Amino acid sequence: ADWPAQWQAILAASNRPPPMTLRVHAQRGTAADYAERLAALGMGARILGAPTPQALVLDKPAPVSALPGFAEGQVSVQDAAAQLAAPLLIGTGLKANARVLDACAAPGGKTAHLLELQPDLQLTALDADAQRLTRVQDTLNRLQQKATLKAADARQPATWWDGQLFNAILLDAPCSASGIVRRHPDVRWLRRPDDITALAGIQAELLDALWPLLAPGGRLVYATCSVFRAEGQAQLDAFLQRQPDAKSHDVPGFTGHLLPVVENAPRPGPSLDGFFYALITKP
Ligand SMILES: C[S@@+](CC[C@H](N)C(=O)[O-])C[C@H]1O[C@@H](n2cnc3c(N)ncnc32)[C@H](O)[C@@H]1O
Repeated sequence: ADWPAQWQAILAASNRPPPMTLRVHAQRGTAADYAERLAALGMGARILGAPTPQALVLDKPAPVSALPGFAEGQVSVQDAAAQLAAPLLIGTGLKANARVLDACAAPGGKTAHLLELQPDLQLTALDADAQRLTRVQDTLNRLQQKATLKAADARQPATWWDGQLFNAILLDAPCSASGIVRRHPDVRWLRRPDDITALAGIQAELLDALWPLLAPGGRLVYATCSVFRAEGQAQLDAFLQRQPDAKSHDVPGFTGHLLPVVENAPRPGPSLDGFFYALITKP
């Protein structure tokens, strides 16, 4: 019911194999440099360009051990849609040493991207799942980055927060994963209709619990890898009703519902996961 004109294209795209998309470390070279290194090894890749300037799509998926510089952190695997989160949160640049919270961080793809774009951030990476949080540490080690890791429920700041406000918060909330069915085909069978209501409830609790932790003038990005409005636009609209001081911003190419139906000539096939992004600021 959410996408009367697009639902068939979304389902068709969800049945196609996903592309393998890379993110080149912004402090260690351009996507064009890395494409040349790949070409020297006989691996073809397409540079995606703005709004994801560090992104490349491999012509053929490859094991990460075959990617030059992977172990040294020169490149990471991350879908192009996921590569919108960090630049949206940072905007034209956060102030030096800004305090940033990544509230649902594991396995750490967006945490790492934030530090690649602005290495001086004082970043706290939180996740409710201690086991998954170890993957954030692995990611940070590979990329030689530092963050404060905490295993806690982001909805209960009393259990983990030191009382200092954050200049920016990324809330990449748990969701139905309906936007990444092509990567996790089991989502189709594991999800039940009631789940969406339950997940939307958790997303609202996370938004409400984290909003007071944002400093005046701060930026909050709310993201879900879902195509459902209940986890996206409807969730944002309801939050703005509850928090009249919150202001949401349209950032073309970044915010709103990104549907996984984009056909990218000359290679046919969708190259983005389905996502929803909102940028919210506090006066
Ligand atoms: C979409 S994933 C995050 C992906 C991650 N941001 C990345 O880019 O690699 C959502 C995460 O939220 C965590 N989570 C779920 N409920 C939470 C809560 N109440 N507080 C903190 N983390 C939570 C899950 O364990 C999961 O790792």
